[in-house]
Formats: sequence, C-alpha cells, structure tokens
Amino acid sequence: MKEFDKVLISKEDIEKKVKEISEQISEDYKGLNPLFVCILKGSVFFTADLLRNVTTPAQIDFMVVSSYGSSTVSSTLKVKKDLTVDIKDKHVIIVEDIIDSGNTLYLLKEMLLSRGPASVKICTLLDKPDRRVKEVKVDYCGFKIPDEFVVGYGLDYSENYRTLPDIRVLSRSVYEK
Ligand code: IMP
Ligand code: MG
Repeated sequence: MKEFDKVLISKEDIEKKVKEISEQISEDYKGLNPLFVCILKGSVFFTADLLRNVTTPAQIDFMVVSSYGSSTVSSTLKVKKDLTVDIKDKHVIIVEDIIDSGNTLYLLKEMLLSRGPASVKICTLLDKPDRRVKEVKVDYCGFKIPDEFVVGYGLDYSENYRTLPDIRVLSRSVYEK
C-alpha cells in the first residue's frame, strides 16, 4: 500500500521560496525589530528556516492554539500555550504552516490585535484557498495548493510525517482506513 500519492513540493523548491520570503520580510521590516510568532508544532521548521535568512534583527516566540467549531457555528480559539512576551507596540508576524478554513488565524489575529501591537501580519507556508470559510488577509504566502491533505516539513497526520524534508500528498488509504 502506498503511503503518499506524490511529492507536491520538493525540498529545493521549499528552500528557494523560504529564502524569497525572508528577503521580502527583511526589507519590509528593516529597523522595526519584528516579533515572529511560531505556531507550534506545524511551523517549527518553516519558522527556523525563515529566521536563519532574515537579515534584520528580530525576535521569536511560540504559541500552541487550535480552533473548534464548524462552518455554520462560530468557532472559538483554544490557547494551549500563550506567548511569554508582551506584544504591546510590537510588530508581530504570525508564522503558520497552512491556512485551511481560516478559522484559526482569523481568531488568533483578533486576539493578538486586542493586546495593542503596532501591527500584526500573517505569513504562511501553504494556503488552501478552496476551503476558506473565514476571510483572512495573507500577507506572505509560500505556495497556494489544491484541496488535498499534505504532510511533511512540519505538517502532520496524527503526529506522524512532520520530519519529512518535502511536502507530500497523503494517500487516502492512510486516513480512510
Ligand atoms: P484552519 O485554517 O483553522 O482550518 O486550520 C488550519 C490548521 O489545520 C493547520 O494549522 C493544520 O494544523 C491543519 N491542517 C489543515 N490542512 C492540513 C493538511 O493538509 N495537512 C496537515 N494539517 C492540515
Ligand atoms: Mg497547525
């Protein structure tokens, strides 16, 4: 039985794209000392690679969040691990692995904005626009992808596959058994 249908994005393409985003952010945030908020666990590799290439001084913090609810019921955000720094007057960049329905990032951005930061922007490696329920402004995006379940480079299925170096489409037979 095949575990993966195909490699959707190669290690080389990820590397190239991450460098491009780092360069753009370095330019946009020059002298602003931005705070990168890494959303665990999915964006751990993305955030690390991104920050290795950011040339302007920056800070990093971590959060664990999830959202509950469906497209019909308004969803709520559950914060399992909050930031350790005060974001008042800071320029915040949320770093996420993938935007799907948009619920998580919509709620997270609202919550962070209520703490009085100078700005909040969103940087995501992957975007599945077909599945959007909540409108969110994506400021930096690596790749737009079709509505398929992907794993690797931080993304998981039941905590597995995060350590794969590339992004792959998981075979239906894995999650429909
Ligand atoms: P949403 O945008 O609120 O629907 O939530 C996005 C979250 O769902 C991401 O942070 C992932 O944890 C998870 N997710 C959505 N699509 C995928 C996928 O294709 N692979 C792995 N995780 C996914
Ligand atoms: Mg996630």
